[in-house]
Amino acid sequence: MKDETLKKINRCLISAWLVIVAVLLITYYIEVLKGNRNTDYYTLFAGVTVVPAFLCLLWYWKNPYSISLRYGFAIGYSVMYGFVLLTSNTDLVFSYIFVMLVLLILYHQPSLIAVVGAISMIVNAIHVILKIGDGTYNTENSRDAEIQLVLLALSFGAAIVAAALYDKISKDYETYKNAQKNMLIQVMTAFSEALDAKDEYTSGHSHSVAIYAKEIMKRLGGNEEEQEEAYYTGLLHDVGKIRVPDAVINKPGKLTPEEFEEIKVHTEAGYQILKNVSALNDLSGGARWHHERYDGTGYPNGIKGEDIPLIARIISVADAYDAMTSNRSYREPMSQEKVREQIVGGMGTQFDAKIAQIMLDMMDEDKDYKLRELEEDARKRILLADDNPEGSEEVIEMLHNDKHYEILSVNNGKSCIDMLKNQYFDLLIIDIEMAGENDMDGYDVVEWVRNNNMSIPVIFMKGDKEMTSILRAESFGISGYITKPVSEAALRDLLRSTLRPNDLA
Ligand SMILES: [Fe+2]
Repeated sequence: MKDETLKKINRCLISAWLVIVAVLLITYYIEVLKGNRNTDYYTLFAGVTVVPAFLCLLWYWKNPYSISLRYGFAIGYSVMYGFVLLTSNTDLVFSYIFVMLVLLILYHQPSLIAVVGAISMIVNAIHVILKIGDGTYNTENSRDAEIQLVLLALSFGAAIVAAALYDKISKDYETYKNAQKNMLIQVMTAFSEALDAKDEYTSGHSHSVAIYAKEIMKRLGGNEEEQEEAYYTGLLHDVGKIRVPDAVINKPGKLTPEEFEEIKVHTEAGYQILKNVSALNDLSGGARWHHERYDGTGYPNGIKGEDIPLIARIISVADAYDAMTSNRSYREPMSQEKVREQIVGGMGTQFDAKIAQIMLDMMDEDKDYKLRELEEDARKRILLADDNPEGSEEVIEMLHNDKHYEILSVNNGKSCIDMLKNQYFDLLIIDIEMAGENDMDGYDVVEWVRNNNMSIPVIFMKGDKEMTSILRAESFGISGYITKPVSEAALRDLLRSTLRPNDLA
């Protein structure tokens, strides 16, 4: 992720350094005018001070977010500092390092300051030795030099402590921010699942729209934060449907004009629900305007073109694509060619042409139909392991005519493992207690699954109603627990929440 704080620190360091260089150039020029320095020295001095700073400035221009630029600063500044100190005719030059030292604390990297400190101490020690060598210092008048070295060592020690403390505060803050973010994500995901549970035909729709919206935002050049915001706005864009009566939402067949008016309410309702979520700016706008059309004939407000916020224009395309490729109450999914035709036809009228083109590009690149078109292949494969044939038949019967699922069954743990080894399944439903000599029970099978790093979700089935059984099952990190005899409604609900559409890579 592009770190704006890092960019600010880099800018601060380079600006301060340039100011120091400018001050030095003026000061030394005055020295030349006074006759204390000659122009040859001034030229060399200008080269050693300007070149390192200029190189770091170029580096910053090229990549203001660079993490390594700090090392450029440390090396470049040390070169300049060393030269100035070793060729100076005043001891006070040693204090030039303090400005950079104070600013380096901003990187809160104690080791960086320690290295710069060591370099500075060495250069200062050489400076003192040279002065002793030319007779400037002797045992009587070396007090200033001693103070100089002690002061430098103390300053660097204090700076290292400050950087370490700042680093700890910064890490604690990061941890806190991540915890807050995770909480927000969990609440938003739960909210979208609540909506999916209400609308049986569009279950998983919000999740797919979220994935497409994120990908479109990425292709538009959005940074990671913007992509994430697009994802969550997609996830909650239809949240206002909570206010629409179930009978209208789940009505098979076409809606009457009155019913359509009721559906339209979900945009403004979504806005009202989300408008106070200040952590994500676009969230409520996405819900409010995702049914606006580019030509201004959409709802709820009839705004048009780029007046429609970018996120709403993105969701409009993602939403239409998913609606066309999913199984709806009133029709089967369209073929990819037909979907393409519809998107091309809507460019500039229904959709922002640029965003629609991105969706078309995504379709073109989608060779293996991850942007799913519901085909036979898209069926979720379920493996059912139950030693009781009546129980298995009952579950198979429930899902028999459902084209979303393909179910295979085995009647013992060993066969279950053999099947998992040889075939791909999207889900394992397993009876915990399976009789049979030397056979493995449900726990043994799941343990084998986890030990073999298989990420297949698991639903446990069990006949008893003991809390300890539920808790033990939960400790295996399973996706669900279902009590026998299996209720069709409970099973379907569990399947729907467990088998979510695939994420795009
Ligand atoms: Fe909608």
